[in-house]
Amino acid sequence: MTSVHVTDLVKEFTVRKGIGRSRFRAVDRVSFDLEPGRTVALVGESGSGKSTIARILSKLEHPTSGRIEVTGDDGAEVARRDYRKNVQMVFQDPFASLNPFHSIAHHIARPLKVHGRTRGSAETYAKVVEMLGRVGLDESFAARRPHELSGGQRQRVAIARALAPGAQVVLADEPVSMLDVSIRLDVLNLMGRLQREDDLAVLYITHDLATARHFSDEILVLYKGRVVERGPSDAVILDPRHDYTRLLASSAPDPERVGKVVSGEAVTDRSRLDNSRCFNHFTGAWEEAEARVSA
Ligand SMILES: Nc1ncnc2c1ncn2[C@@H]1O[C@H](COP(=O)(O)OP(=O)(O)O)[C@@H](O)[C@H]1O
Ligand SMILES: [Mg+2]
Repeated sequence: MTSVHVTDLVKEFTVRKGIGRSRFRAVDRVSFDLEPGRTVALVGESGSGKSTIARILSKLEHPTSGRIEVTGDDGAEVARRDYRKNVQMVFQDPFASLNPFHSIAHHIARPLKVHGRTRGSAETYAKVVEMLGRVGLDESFAARRPHELSGGQRQRVAIARALAPGAQVVLADEPVSMLDVSIRLDVLNLMGRLQREDDLAVLYITHDLATARHFSDEILVLYKGRVVERGPSDAVILDPRHDYTRLLASSAPDPERVGKVVSGEAVTDRSRLDNSRCFNHFTGAWEEAEARVSA
């Protein structure tokens, strides 16, 4: 089984400011582990750095500094060429992530062939049908094109495609936020079932605290690139300590489902928010951002 260990991840972008340029830190010393059978939720509002982390983990982007170590069964590091076979991403937009010119079968067959999972077209097609079945789609979908599918069906195809290489680690970047509310839980439940069947390590990126609590073991709350609170999901949701987590909880659309949150006054003054400290529910203590800088 494959695990991912992320240590002190930093990503800086160069941005234009008037006539000059300046460096902007989108991700600042973020550390976490993804383990088989477990889901870590990365929670934060738009712009907090969630997708940047996912893009770095899927090697679409280079980190400015920090370490990403992917280890296999034996604890040895996974070879660079096997990285994509092990770590796959499900993107937010199911309409943009599939190529309109190719059939559904093509989308799933390609990773099977690229990663040598099947030999010959008959075996590949049989595996495509099997993968479709695993995500709740029958064989009739194989010959269809993306525009003939609903958003939820497309996202199921994207999940099948991610698992096709035999991926053990799935990075799901807001996988249901663009889908109709009525089918979001179906897709999340499907991911949960596939995770149990394949003992997958999952990074679940969302701005929705309710599903983060329900579908993950651990929650990291990200604010302006830094983790400001982390811990077991129930602890973070039921006993949020950082003002930013409390703010997210109090602005959640359905507080009943999130749990009993927000002890004390609700935080409305964003200028008071401070991302230099992180409450760690595993140790029960506040940690200073500076304390995690590696030597
Ligand atoms: N390629 C880029 N160049 C410059 N800034 C970027 C780039 N990608 C992301 N950013 C900035 O980094 C911050 C984090 O973005 P992102 O990781 O997409 O956040 P999230 O997924 O949490 O909404 C945002 O302020 C965004 O504008
Ligand atoms: Mg994003």
